Amino acid sequence: MKGIVLAGGRGTRLYPATYSVNKHLLPIYDKPMIYYPLSVLMLSGIRDILIISTPQDTDRFRKVLGDGSYLGIRLQYEVQNEPRGIADAFVVGSHFVGDGPVALILGDNFFFGHGLPDILRRRKQEVEEKGGAYIFAYYVQNPSAYGVVEFDADWNVISIEEKPENPRSNYAITGLYFFDSRVVEVASSIPPSRRGEKEITDVLNAYLDAKSLRVQLLGRGFAWLDMGTHDSMLEASVFVSTIEKRQGLKIGCIEEVAYRMGWIDREGLLRVARRYSNSGYGEYLLRLAEGRIL
Ligand code: DAU
Repeated sequence: MKGIVLAGGRGTRLYPATYSVNKHLLPIYDKPMIYYPLSVLMLSGIRDILIISTPQDTDRFRKVLGDGSYLGIRLQYEVQNEPRGIADAFVVGSHFVGDGPVALILGDNFFFGHGLPDILRRRKQEVEEKGGAYIFAYYVQNPSAYGVVEFDADWNVISIEEKPENPRSNYAITGLYFFDSRVVEVASSIPPSRRGEKEITDVLNAYLDAKSLRVQLLGRGFAWLDMGTHDSMLEASVFVSTIEKRQGLKIGCIEEVAYRMGWIDREGLLRVARRYSNSGYGEYLLRLAEGRIL
């Protein structure tokens, strides 16, 4: 399975912070925001990744992450000229996706929790083997801010709605989706909504109608945060700093993930450690390479 990180959008809600810097490059505690969703795709075992951003920002992502070879992955870049909706990622990325399954993660989504990589790998494998789509739902206090999924008593999905005024459940649909290869065709054929965007929930409803949508609940032991507002960025930063200081282990450290997945060797890790040698981040990579971390 390939993967897409969607990291465009206007970012106007965060002006002036995002006037000249793309939101997904702003720091969440000690690293750029995009490291977190990128590490989630990597932890799922995905090594072929497309980053989609705006005409003015795509080169900045290329500068930060390059072709991914230093992480043992392949990174490609594609431009979305206008924020035409989340589902537009599959139209922009249609050549990249080709005729295989694909994961999509929104560049401002944060996931953390024990056993998450296992769940991700299992669900990814299920889509690869059986087709269909897998999404992840999370109980929240303010479901109207998200896509919302409603279940019957047997946990079958009854409805999916985008930011409903009167939500039928508290289960938000997180910004991580695994799809079979039909997704490009489905996304291409759905019309823009009233707000002028190709809605991801319309794609999910098409899969639901075809009885090929499955949902994994992420329980309260997981943290799912979005990082799309000043407050949520601050909250995510505090969360990361709290855990990182307590454990001395990093969250969303893409070089560590690459190393632990066996995609880069010690020498490769040391090379990046040297590049960042003046920072605590570089120091962490060095300690990791020297076997001084868990
Ligand atoms: O975070 C989960 C939620 O994400 C889901 O529950 C919703 O169903 C889904 O529509 C989405 O809602 P948001 O209101 O958070 O979407 P937003 O427009 O903020 O875009 C999410 C990210 O995707 C953001 O980092 C910018 C990027 N984006 C968005 C659009 C619409 C693009 O790169 N291009 C786009 O065209």
